[in-house]
Amino acid sequence: MCGIVGYVGFRDAEPILLEGLRRLEYRGYDSAGLATLHGARLHLRKRAGRIQDLTRHVRDRPAPGCIGISHTRWATHGPANDSNAHPHVGGNGLVAVVHNGVIENYASLRRQLETEGVVFTSDTDTEVIAQLIARNLRTVTGDRDWGDLPCGDLIEAVSDTLDMLKGTYGLAVVSPHYPDVVIGARLGSPLVLGIGEGEHYLASDPGALVGLAEKVVYLQDRQLCVLTRGEWHILDQERSRVEASVHKIEWEVADADKGLFDHYMLKEIYEQPEALENALRGRLSDEEASSHFGGLNLDTQALRRVERIILTACGTSYHAALVGEYLFEEFARIPVEVEYASEFRYRNPPIDRNTIVLAITQSGETADTLAALRESKRKGHPTLALCNVVGSTIAREADGGVYLHAGPEIGVASTKAFTNQVAVLTMLALHFGRMRHLSALQGAQMVRELRGVPDAVRKTLNCHDSVRRVAERYGHANNFLYLGRQYHYPVALEGALKLKEISYIHAEGYPAAEMKHGPIALVDEDTPSVFLMPRGPIFDKVMSNLEEVKARGGPVIAIACEGDEEVAARADEVIYVPEVPEYLQPLCQERHCGVSAPHRGSPGLRSCPVTSAKPRDSLTRGFADSTLATQSIPSRCQQLLISTIALLPAPRLSRRKIVAPVSSKA
Ligand code: BG6
Repeated sequence: MCGIVGYVGFRDAEPILLEGLRRLEYRGYDSAGLATLHGARLHLRKRAGRIQDLTRHVRDRPAPGCIGISHTRWATHGPANDSNAHPHVGGNGLVAVVHNGVIENYASLRRQLETEGVVFTSDTDTEVIAQLIARNLRTVTGDRDWGDLPCGDLIEAVSDTLDMLKGTYGLAVVSPHYPDVVIGARLGSPLVLGIGEGEHYLASDPGALVGLAEKVVYLQDRQLCVLTRGEWHILDQERSRVEASVHKIEWEVADADKGLFDHYMLKEIYEQPEALENALRGRLSDEEASSHFGGLNLDTQALRRVERIILTACGTSYHAALVGEYLFEEFARIPVEVEYASEFRYRNPPIDRNTIVLAITQSGETADTLAALRESKRKGHPTLALCNVVGSTIAREADGGVYLHAGPEIGVASTKAFTNQVAVLTMLALHFGRMRHLSALQGAQMVRELRGVPDAVRKTLNCHDSVRRVAERYGHANNFLYLGRQYHYPVALEGALKLKEISYIHAEGYPAAEMKHGPIALVDEDTPSVFLMPRGPIFDKVMSNLEEVKARGGPVIAIACEGDEEVAARADEVIYVPEVPEYLQPLCQERHCGVSAPHRGSPGLRSCPVTSAKPRDSLTRGFADSTLATQSIPSRCQQLLISTIALLPAPRLSRRKIVAPVSSKA
């Protein structure tokens, strides 16, 4: 996904824009660029490749001025080259635009503009926006009643253009004819305004503004913002000024910094115990033998009436939802359906009256999850959200919910947000369960067990050596299977996802017993199977599945309870995790399934190659960027290591904490 940073103030814009882009590097990109205004001159600099390439370019050709916009691009329309990099200009430099999202009707708009004589210099949908704004700006005439806004014509030109677009956008616009103004707009792609003293910012992710602005405003869909050095305004779809909720950025610079770690993903893996403590803090009650939440916005009677829960999410959050299904059914005895948000939003399933829809999302901005939530609200179902990013769109729009308190998750492969999602789902299952079937004694036991989770997760982080050994032994493999049953099945899916996303190694996750209905045909001596097999009620069944793989000569990597010699005797490699109750095991296992331990200061990891074609944070996306063809075996081992570490079984939850009401605007 692309990144946007904009600035207007009293300092040189160029270094601020470059630093903001560096903070968004983790999202992945293939080119970067910026445009500044100095008086009535537009300075445009852009380069395919990494931000270092852009930095070198501006060193040779500085871009002066105290106002500008910048962008990291991830190619959608047209290859990654200098011409397709953003910003794009319209009307021979009349406006410059950076854009996240996809314009679905760009081809017809482009044809129309070409018949009017416009000559395009890129393949992008974004240039269509720039050219349209320029055309509309030229046709805007007379003085408009825009109150005391300094740039009514430009606002009108942007606004008219937005009305013509079908698709999604988060965008920023500058024009040398309005040298003091940055305009931003969003529809389906996040944009946040940062408020400083005599300076204002725009970013697609609040993480880019940490340490720069203390307060932010999250733009809502179809809103537009106008920034000057001294003022900011939010306009609605009719272009009337609206009041906006101002949020404080609670993250600190250190939260958004890699610190001593080589990669964000590694840092975030090591932050899991503390993140879990933050998720639990203040939410567990010995007295009530239960958990409690301040932001559900449903009273006890309403919660008692719930007869069905639909969990909807994407990616890793979907796998957390699958764990939630087991938890709710076991502890609350409530039927649960788990739906990919991208499917659910377009389906029309019959939904009973007493059904609540719970959206799970780290970012709170995932388009499909948001659409699924909105569709559920439209049909009148109470909606809740489990969100990490305070003030995000889903957090604002859900009727109630629970914040994850994982802190900023910058690595694109989700780690600490996943464990916090599972922790919060466990506490919610306890909460619902205590209103129904769970006794005070059972509740008290769960509370105790949950409090032990952060320490158990801490112990799982001591597994670097075994994870590294596994990675070095199997780093050459091109295919992996991840197999588990019950609570471990979603973790197997997540493990396979992590391996694919981080290592570019093909992997499939299956319920271990399903393997014999087809996938077992893939098993051979070159296809390792990762078995999730801590002790539990169906341990023996999983052992039989392991034997089936062994019988076909398949290597077995087992994730098992500490000291389990029976597993060690049968598996080729074992990674041990602390013994915790079964329902808490997904919290310990996740980290070792995906990664082979990107651990602190590992020189090997530092040397992983990252292609210049898709520069992303190594460990998160950087590893993924090395294509199989160009990867050396050692580097693949390192990536495998990292994905394996992410998969290690997570022990139970730990203790303490705070539920901020998701629906709160504060
Ligand atoms: C994907 C990410 O794009 O979005 C996954 O690669 C993530 O890591 C998924 O799980 C869903 O994101 P979110 O923010 O809704 O949890």
